[in-house]
Amino acid sequence: MAARGVGVLTRWSLCSRRGRVHRPVFRLVSSAGPAAADLGRDEQPPGSEVPGTEDKTPKKRFSEVQRERREQAQRTALIHCPNKISEKKFLKYLSQHGPIKNHFFYESFGLYALVEFCQKDSIDSLKHGSHTPSLSTEAAIPFRSRFFSLRQRNPSSQSSEQSCVKISSQVPPTNRKLFDVLYYAESVDDQLNNLLKASELTEENTKLRYLTCSLIEDIAAAYFPSCTVRPFGSSVNTFGKLGCDLDMFLDLDEFRENTTNKNVGNFLMEFQVKSVPSERIATQKILSVIGECLDHFGPGCVGLQKILNARCPLVRFSHQPSGFQCDLTTNNRIALKSSELLYIYGALDSRVRALVFSIRHWARTHSLTSSIPGAWITNFSLTMMVIFFLQRRSPPILPTLDSLKSLAGAEDKCIIEGNNCTFLSDLNKIKPSGNTETLELLLKEFFEYFGNFAFNKNSINIRQGKEQNKPDSSPLYIQNPFETSLNVSKNVSQSQMQKFVDLARESAWILDQEDRASSDDRPWGLAALLLPSIISKSHAKRSKNKPASERVRSLLESIKQGNTADPASTDGERTMNTQT
Ligand code: GTP
Ligand code: MG
Repeated sequence: MAARGVGVLTRWSLCSRRGRVHRPVFRLVSSAGPAAADLGRDEQPPGSEVPGTEDKTPKKRFSEVQRERREQAQRTALIHCPNKISEKKFLKYLSQHGPIKNHFFYESFGLYALVEFCQKDSIDSLKHGSHTPSLSTEAAIPFRSRFFSLRQRNPSSQSSEQSCVKISSQVPPTNRKLFDVLYYAESVDDQLNNLLKASELTEENTKLRYLTCSLIEDIAAAYFPSCTVRPFGSSVNTFGKLGCDLDMFLDLDEFRENTTNKNVGNFLMEFQVKSVPSERIATQKILSVIGECLDHFGPGCVGLQKILNARCPLVRFSHQPSGFQCDLTTNNRIALKSSELLYIYGALDSRVRALVFSIRHWARTHSLTSSIPGAWITNFSLTMMVIFFLQRRSPPILPTLDSLKSLAGAEDKCIIEGNNCTFLSDLNKIKPSGNTETLELLLKEFFEYFGNFAFNKNSINIRQGKEQNKPDSSPLYIQNPFETSLNVSKNVSQSQMQKFVDLARESAWILDQEDRASSDDRPWGLAALLLPSIISKSHAKRSKNKPASERVRSLLESIKQGNTADPASTDGERTMNTQT
């Protein structure tokens, strides 16, 4: 391995604070976050599993989770509250509209409450009892949504009221907290599981994401009454961390299906429609109009950008009350299918999410990924690499996509734009892996594997679970699982690829030294991999030393990718990459 550690010991001493605790006894902790709840295993005590021996509770299908969450969101309202409010009085006031099933408060430019009623009727009653404000200096656009403001009738009499609500945090953990989480863990396996637990989406944050989609759906429904706005990407594929963007898909197909089912008899009744030269132009027009609508009438939607010339056109905006950065697309059904596939992989073995979260965190710490679109690896590509690596273990931890396809039933058949996206949706039918490797071993082997991967000639292919010859000279070639002629990492430059390889080798080396090290007084395991790297520094220096013209060219390239033709498409095909 190259890149051995001149200075690595110096790095260790940077953060050393206390002796290392004695560990590995238990090796695997299954997460009990919202992903676990969605999967139907929220009751599971941590620390009770051995790798490869997953629990037997039936796990929910992706479509089932989406349906349940969507229905839940439709019974839910978002309420901007006065800063000082009594929770008891608040709940009593709202209960006049019907029983409340769940609620929580959070802060984002003010105090907000998410209130889930038991019945949908309560929302109608709440709407009925609310009115459009009359503003003194400005004019209100009378849009009636499920996003309300609660005002006190007599603020002066209540100004002495103590705010006594419990605030649920919607922000990612601080670096300090993550450092502690890693430092005080019992084993490397615990480190990975604890990092997952500290950064995964919470139940509350998940509810807020589905509610935000539901609120946007209400606005889009002004034009397309039967449309659906569905979350996809890391908000739903179980790989999302607090603070990640909210990818939304405006689904008009339900609308289309409803119109075709009723055609019986000798005639065929169709709507009169306007036609445009291509599907892409239709998508651009629809998104343009919905974008205008969100901009003008959408309460809380700010900073809207229409990015319609991207390979996958989108509308990007901030939803201020939830704090989410939103990317709205349409005609993007394949991305929804990718989300389902990742959901299945994330659910099949509890080591998958722990490993993906740690690798993503490692990559972000070393600036291998970025929030700005450009020549770097994306979180999506990293996830594909982890899945591929787990398919390559012996015995495999994850099945190939082709084997999931061979297990599919008739109801799973799915062809999108000529691409076969069929795979088994009932994950309970998939046999658990017999592989019992620890996360500690997998982490090290991941870095070994990709530190020595022949990226110059081979591609990564999760459909077949084996390396294949690259069809072109892209530095990193990860075959798109559904649009198989495309490379999901086409954007990655040679220098970023080299940086990834160098860092992977360095990390493998650090973990290898860990096995032999006896010193107790230093950050260890995963924490040791997150310290500033010699490799990163030398890459930064090398890129600074590039001729000015070359730096300007890459900067322009990155700006071009980021702001003009295709800000989202860092992969040259279809992306909505806004990493966190
Ligand atoms: P975050 O970085 O946490 O937002 O992860 P993410 O998975 O949500 O990624 P992102 O927001 O960039 O993209 C949303 C979804 O779009 C992904 O989950 C994929 O389903 C899809 N997607 C993203 N990048 C690509 C790509 O390069 N190719 C293809 N085919 N799909 C992509
Ligand atoms: Mg995303």
